[in-house]
Amino acid sequence: MIELRDVRKRFGKQVVLDGVNFTVQDGETVALLGPSGTGKSVLLKHIIGLIKPDSGTIIVDGKDVSHLKRKELAEFRQTIGYVFQNGALFDSMDVLENVRLGIVDEDKYEDMDYVRGRVAECIRLVNLPADVVEKYPAQLSGGMRKRVGIARAIAGSPKYLLYDEPTSGLDPVNADIIDSLVQRLAQELHVTSVMVTHDVRGAFRVADRLALLSDGKIVMQGTPKEFLASDNPKVREFLERDFDNPQFAA
Ligand SMILES: Nc1ncnc2c1ncn2[C@@H]1O[C@H](COP(=O)(O)OP(=O)(O)O)[C@@H](O)[C@H]1O
Ligand SMILES: [Mg+2]
Repeated sequence: MIELRDVRKRFGKQVVLDGVNFTVQDGETVALLGPSGTGKSVLLKHIIGLIKPDSGTIIVDGKDVSHLKRKELAEFRQTIGYVFQNGALFDSMDVLENVRLGIVDEDKYEDMDYVRGRVAECIRLVNLPADVVEKYPAQLSGGMRKRVGIARAIAGSPKYLLYDEPTSGLDPVNADIIDSLVQRLAQELHVTSVMVTHDVRGAFRVADRLALLSDGKIVMQGTPKEFLASDNPKVREFLERDFDNPQFAA
């Protein structure tokens, strides 16, 4: 379970998180929505302890993340797969080496038989062809690079998967493929997932619950159905940007 209680964070004078309350139950997939620059990535980084809050509490997997010691934090991070916003692949490494970086057990990391098997398994899980392991990021399409980033995130068998805008920059067809993948991995790997996105349509397809971050607060957290029924003006405003989309009519 992930729980943020009254989390506050400012950078200089800019208040980014202004008392955030946010929960993700075990096994659940929650989409974190919000306009660009509202602090979605900042919130996600609090969950893995990359950013410390000014005040408030972050509990993940029963641990008080912002008070973990260095070694405890390193161990804790091994339970989390993080898919970075831009993929963050190393251009100088082939796909095998990039995905290998996600293997957190040091002995396994050095065992090339294990590495080849595990990388092949993760590549298969994200629906990429087996021969992609020999390719370099520059030889792949945007959608394939995102999937390699996801393969790396799952390579260490995490309990939690955090995705930062996994569909940004993709055309609708490739965005749908990634959305389906997020959904399928949640089921097959029994992970607890948070997907940051500004794509309302994808969020509705994939998530068990949604959360809307606006002006430093979670304005609403609830099921897609509850969101559609909400008369909160901020929720309406955010949804209506996409309401002319025919996929919403159903
Ligand atoms: N390390 C940092 N130092 C200073 N400001 C930051 C830092 N990280 C993020 N910000 C600011 O916090 C705000 C929210 O950023 P971010 O979480 O990246 O937004 P988004 O919702 O688009 O992911 C932005 O104004 C950004 O410039
Ligand atoms: Mg962001």
